[in-house]
Amino acid sequence: MTISRAVDALRRGEVIGLPTETVYGLAADASNPEAVKRIFELKGRPADHPVIVHLADADELGAWAVDVPEAAHRLAAAFWPGPLTLILRKAAHVLDLVTGGQDTVGIRVPRHPVAQEVLRAFGGALAAPSANRFGRVSPTRRAHVLAEFGDALPMVLEGGDCEVGLESTIVDLSREGDARILRPGVLDRAALESLLGPIASGVTPESPRAAGTLASHYAPSTPVELVGALDPDRENVRVLTLGPVPAGYRGMSLGRDPAVYGKALYAALRELDAEGAEALLVETPPAEPAWEAVRDRLTRAATK
Ligand code: TXA
Ligand code: MG
Repeated sequence: MTISRAVDALRRGEVIGLPTETVYGLAADASNPEAVKRIFELKGRPADHPVIVHLADADELGAWAVDVPEAAHRLAAAFWPGPLTLILRKAAHVLDLVTGGQDTVGIRVPRHPVAQEVLRAFGGALAAPSANRFGRVSPTRRAHVLAEFGDALPMVLEGGDCEVGLESTIVDLSREGDARILRPGVLDRAALESLLGPIASGVTPESPRAAGTLASHYAPSTPVELVGALDPDRENVRVLTLGPVPAGYRGMSLGRDPAVYGKALYAALRELDAEGAEALLVETPPAEPAWEAVRDRLTRAATK
């Protein structure tokens, strides 16, 4: 029922809120320029920022990308459906609105059962950025999406709390011999490298543009400070800690397991942001590979 109503809305060119295993997305028919334009209007996002194309199955890759390197097939076989986005050379029909006018397209096969059901029933591809207004924290539960858009987005499918909670790992394979991680996610770098060989990290002047790679992004309204130690003299602050919240502080502990921390991070940022404190002091997570995605998002949240 719900799925068929969602598919009807997508066929009419409407935008819906769609759960994925990473974060909730604002989904629309990737082949309908009016529908994709509506995503940008809702998000308040500049039109030159590309959006990811979501497919039900890796088999559909050939319809959206050309010159697909062997490495892409290896990664797809290992990690799709799942929290991986591949940047590849685009097929001719892919809309400029989707690619931000570039010659590449970002493609992902999500594994969330609701996203899978919608994609299969729809039978096409869905363009979907994270369902937050431009520059804000991504939503990891339906209530976050409702709070962000209200009546402007009548249909938001329920998918529970996102299992991953951080946006997908983006790997650029569009330039031969230069595989690059444009956005770290929960996929293990060592696992990616075992399939690809050494992968560079970070954007270069030649890299395809990625909005999530702007220095200041994923930011709550409360100023975020990454700290080594909590300052006992700060007043009207909230804290986000690894160990238990020390006596005399107000805030939350997300624990020392990076997967658990990453899953809970955005909901915690939203909750603490709503308290209107002067600052949010975040205890800096360990400089270990398993924490790379969390550290990346916290660093961006702390950048003004
Ligand atoms: O986990 C995710 O990836 C979520 C869920 C909904 O799938 N989506 C998501 O979308 O995070 P968004 O639009 O918030 O972030 C996608 C990132 C942006 O930084 C965008 O610039 C980049 O992917 N991207 C998309 N297509 C690209 C392309 N052709 N070249 C370079 N970057 C691209
Ligand atoms: Mg986003």
